[in-house]
Amino acid sequence: MGRLTLQDLDARQGVQIQTFDKPWIKVGMSTCGLAAGADAVFNALVETIQSRSLDWRVTRTGCAGMCSMEPLVEFRVPGESPVMYGEMTPELARELVTHFADKRSLPDDHRVPGLAELAQAAGDPPRTGPRQYRIVMRNCGVIDPENIDEYIDRGGYQALKKVLSSMTPEQVIEELKTSGLRGRGGAGFPVWSKWKMTRASIGDEHFIICNGDEGDPGAYMDRSVLEGDPHAVVEGMIIGGYVIGAQTGFFYIRAEYPLAIERIEKAIKQARAAGLLGSNILGANFSFNIEVRLGAGAFVCGEETALIASVEGKRGTPSPRPPYPSVRGLWKQPTMINNVETLANITQVLLHGGRWFAGIGSGKSTGTKVFAVTGKVKYSGLVEIPMGMTLREVVEEICGGTASGGPIKAVQTGGPSGGLIPADKLDTPITYEHLQQLGSIMGSGGMIVMDETDSVVELSRFYLGFCVDESCGKCAPCRIGGTQILRLLNNIADGKGKEEDLVTIRRMAHAMQKASLCGLGQTAPNPILSALRYYEHEFRERLVPAHK
Ligand SMILES: Cc1cc2nc3c(=O)[nH]c(=O)nc-3n(C[C@H](O)[C@H](O)[C@H](O)COP(=O)(O)O)c2cc1C
Ligand code: SF4
Repeated sequence: MGRLTLQDLDARQGVQIQTFDKPWIKVGMSTCGLAAGADAVFNALVETIQSRSLDWRVTRTGCAGMCSMEPLVEFRVPGESPVMYGEMTPELARELVTHFADKRSLPDDHRVPGLAELAQAAGDPPRTGPRQYRIVMRNCGVIDPENIDEYIDRGGYQALKKVLSSMTPEQVIEELKTSGLRGRGGAGFPVWSKWKMTRASIGDEHFIICNGDEGDPGAYMDRSVLEGDPHAVVEGMIIGGYVIGAQTGFFYIRAEYPLAIERIEKAIKQARAAGLLGSNILGANFSFNIEVRLGAGAFVCGEETALIASVEGKRGTPSPRPPYPSVRGLWKQPTMINNVETLANITQVLLHGGRWFAGIGSGKSTGTKVFAVTGKVKYSGLVEIPMGMTLREVVEEICGGTASGGPIKAVQTGGPSGGLIPADKLDTPITYEHLQQLGSIMGSGGMIVMDETDSVVELSRFYLGFCVDESCGKCAPCRIGGTQILRLLNNIADGKGKEEDLVTIRRMAHAMQKASLCGLGQTAPNPILSALRYYEHEFRERLVPAHK
């Protein structure tokens, strides 16, 4: 593909629907699908189709979110609703092709609810009820992430076109302000405000960084978006670069995400070839390039000052803030850091308008949030829901409750920085504010469902142990405090704890929250404090008898 013009972008939209005239099979080939055997399914489909000389299409797509049912295959026939099949094997794939080729009908076995039934796409009016609403994941499981044409076909790079041809940076910032979009990396900082501050900061040059470190155990929303719709994040970053006056952007992605890295690198290459990166993008007086940097899987490197040190080639340890990166960041220049999901929202806010976005969600928590729901749940996977939906709707109605059919004990949100929410509070709406009131946080989107067989003492031990392992050791409250609390917790778990240990744990936890240098140490005590808040009896049951 050569350099695209504004007219080319319009001409290439919606072509696939107009020219859709033969059966088309899409195979979910993100990390979750591949781990479940999607490669073999893909090959079986291609071989069978070729052996029967059928004129059908087989393409790869990203993760549709139904990870527990992978490998997933979607069968499309012109004029009919798509049908989705789960838990496919190469044998089932061959049968599927043979069945349709011979009988012109699709088998019923292994059918699962399709994307159209599970979710509405961005742009439709919000529906009520426990349905998903896809803004961030609108293309995941729909397009071939390695094919820029499929992205452009679904309106890709239209937001960039709109911005470069008709909006000033200030107007973009105003639209983001109207939208109420907040950062999805954990802290929920208003996006417009960070973009405005970075733009206003003086420096030799400005930088934008996409934070794809995703270190929370159990969280993989960002990986899925990078793998399933890389151009959406690239486009969001280019727009961010235009607004803050940057010429260079960096993707910081953990090296343990090889497929996400590969797809982002391909997307950058394709965008460059199409003239969507480089000099005078779409004929505008704006030039921008993107580079990729790999992290080595340290949780602390997701913290923005540590991330900057890591990109600079230094050891990834945090520094005191202020100065914030928006004032003095990468190579001491103004730097805007945004999370993957945050950037994936940008194009839709600008295409549909800030008011449209603000109409989805609840109060100061606008738009949607993607969660990775795991643990003892029947259907684990990714769900994208409008904020304000209750936890119960997510874990019971969308994810089917517990796999055993027994009661839910608690839900953990926010990973190692979050907390437990007991079952009697599941009717709480998912907003930044409501989760905080319960002693947890929205976090980046990890959601672990516990049933009655799970121990909160063990869960607290797991998260604290994780933070102690991942602490960079730079400041004493986190380095020493974390180790000491873990020692007491291990004692309690082993039946050797005393009453006063609970007092000491709470005291040290509060000191750690107040005195630690970065968010890792400041939030590491959250899981144990929330466990003590709601389940102190479980800790007491393990104390030595005189102390019960
Ligand atoms: C220990 C630690 C780890 C973090 N890890 C991530 C991460 O993996 N991804 C991310 O986007 N933000 C992470 N953050 C938050 C970032 O520091 C930063 O706030 C975020 O990337 C800003 O983007 P946003 O405003 O779009 O949310 C982490 C923070 C801390 C303290
Ligand atoms: S709080 Fe922990 S991770 Fe953060 S700087 Fe201090 S020692 Fe390092």
